[in-house]
Amino acid sequence: MRVTVNRKAHFNAAHRLHLSDWDDEKNQEVFGRCNNPFYHGHNYELTVSVTGKIDPSTGFVVDMKWLADLITEKVEDYLDHKNLNEQIKEFESLNPTAENIAVVIWKRLRPFINAENGLKITLYETPRNFVEFSGEE
Ligand code: NI
Repeated sequence: MRVTVNRKAHFNAAHRLHLSDWDDEKNQEVFGRCNNPFYHGHNYELTVSVTGKIDPSTGFVVDMKWLADLITEKVEDYLDHKNLNEQIKEFESLNPTAENIAVVIWKRLRPFINAENGLKITLYETPRNFVEFSGEE
């Protein structure tokens, strides 16, 4: 019997979606307002989901306080109020789309989650646009 526990988190960050191989016109056409050369911010809403067996003694899949602290340390402290393009090493040569941010978050958390448990990242870039990543199977 596997149960999923979910913890919500939040960070604000600035980014610019841009591919230097493309000219300005194509960048504007594909990335629209997210191509603004002066950057812009998003209020990212995050849900971290851990799926696994319930520990028979604690009754937990994972200690929620521990998970909350892990997300604060590894995700919020790392990304909040940052310029993703300029300040986060993973995005030095990777476009900071919601898809890529979700993968980066997953990679930062995965080593700390029990290997038997599943980890899924749900990331909202806007209230209507969100992505999910559960790792490669
Ligand atoms: Ni944007």
